[in-house]
Amino acid sequence: MVAMDKLVSLCKRRGFIFPSSEIYGGLNGCWDYGPLGVELKRNVKQAWWDDVVRLHDDTTQQDGAPAPYSMVGLDSALLMNPRVWEASGHVGGFSDPMVDCRETRNRYRADQLVVFALMFGDDETGGRPHEDVLFAAPGEPGKTPASELLAVHRRQVAAIAKRLGGGQPSGIAVIDAALGDADKRARIWAPGASAPGTLTAPRAFNLMFKTHVGALEDHSSVAYLRPETAQGIFVNFKNVLDTARVRLPFGIAQIGKAFRNEINPRNFTFRSREFEQMEIEFFCRRSEAPQWYQFWRQRRFRWYTALGIRPENLVLREHEPDELAHYAAGCADVEYAFPFGQSELEGIANRTDFDLAQHMEFSGKDQRYFDDQASEEKDKRFLPYVIEPSAGADRGTLAFLCDAYAEDEVGGQPRTVLRLHPRLAPIKAAVFPLVRKEGMPEVAGEIFRRLKRRWNVAYDDKGAIGRRYRRQDEAGTPWCITVDGDSLTDRSVTVRERDSCEQQRVGIDELETLFGESIGG
Ligand code: GAP
Repeated sequence: MVAMDKLVSLCKRRGFIFPSSEIYGGLNGCWDYGPLGVELKRNVKQAWWDDVVRLHDDTTQQDGAPAPYSMVGLDSALLMNPRVWEASGHVGGFSDPMVDCRETRNRYRADQLVVFALMFGDDETGGRPHEDVLFAAPGEPGKTPASELLAVHRRQVAAIAKRLGGGQPSGIAVIDAALGDADKRARIWAPGASAPGTLTAPRAFNLMFKTHVGALEDHSSVAYLRPETAQGIFVNFKNVLDTARVRLPFGIAQIGKAFRNEINPRNFTFRSREFEQMEIEFFCRRSEAPQWYQFWRQRRFRWYTALGIRPENLVLREHEPDELAHYAAGCADVEYAFPFGQSELEGIANRTDFDLAQHMEFSGKDQRYFDDQASEEKDKRFLPYVIEPSAGADRGTLAFLCDAYAEDEVGGQPRTVLRLHPRLAPIKAAVFPLVRKEGMPEVAGEIFRRLKRRWNVAYDDKGAIGRRYRRQDEAGTPWCITVDGDSLTDRSVTVRERDSCEQQRVGIDELETLFGESIGG
């Protein structure tokens, strides 16, 4: 598994991902995709769009689907009438409880602070937690190991242990529900604080970014940057139904930016404040929703493995009943084993008819589906159920990068290589004239221009061939094509494959077929 700092450094060095507005010190939770990164992320989004919309065949029953179904696309506005967010529950409820440290001015998500007491003594003498002095540290309760918390806050912990008159603490005891209890809060040391009792009580913090539409900045002009693309689909349900001639079951897919004022953006692009989602709202009959839920869980899981993620790094985790949103009848997450821990890439939820019912109530517009085939009058109009596979394009891109990163040796020399699936690779092939003379640049240029009509390809005539290979390996380029003296007479070139480093002689006219088979799409 790649160390995160190595990946971040490769991304910066090779132009995949930069901190946003870096020359001004950046902006926390915002990232820019450089020349290689933009190609990679576009390929991720294109692969998703092709697989769920463009290449979907609604005339046959495919991929183990319970029945044939239709898929259409949408691109809705990012700014919407604020009533949308009242109906969806985001204005009232889309919030995280957070606590502030009055001294350091740091802000934490309450559910991402572990409160613990130091333990003294060992098992034989009966280790005891010292609850007079508590300590809060960022981490995931139940997940972050105690040793990690102690190591990160070593100096502060040592100072507190000294204050307690003890020697080295033998461990920690996690104290539940301490932040909501004023007595306990008064005894908690926040990270970096010089005294206990500096944390505020947890307060709800709405994650939506507010803005104003038009010239007036008052209550009547408030609008929100959308925190998910899903609601743009729900409010267009009737428009699509009336114009696209679709019948149940069918799905509407959308890719677009979403914004959340995350309290604690972290882990590179994993939790950002501006990110892109790839969402499907799949409409079906209530009685069929459990089957479609199962179908989409499996189908979305397979999408990642088909694009090269190693199955052992991917988990499909069913939510516990107490994790479910109040409207959801089921939810599973596709989780990836990131270097910072197993975390969500995509959620697949059975959202019932909650959203359409809410929009029907708030807008006063009938959102029911009309089934002219129903034999009984009472069954003719109803609100469909919705299965929602909701993926993050940035998280997917990060997972593909993590999974592809490798260090190995070629000819006794260390190399860094991104073993990206050819469909995702930012550059599909690089063309090298062996030397910059004797007609080789002309032939290489001809190949470059020919391949460029179909794919993003590179041309490189600088430096030794080995160095040129290394540069492309780091960029994840699956094939390097070298034009040599023989190419001028036999119209063939040497194709070197990135992962195996094997080389084969291929006719210039066969290159497109050779690459096309692996790239697909
Ligand atoms: N419409 C449902 C919805 O938005 P979500 O679990 O909040 O559900 C769906 O988000 C996906 O969007 C997540 O699985 C993740 O991939 C991505 N996502 C959510 N918050 C994100 C953030 N702060 N940074 C990057 N990606 C995020």
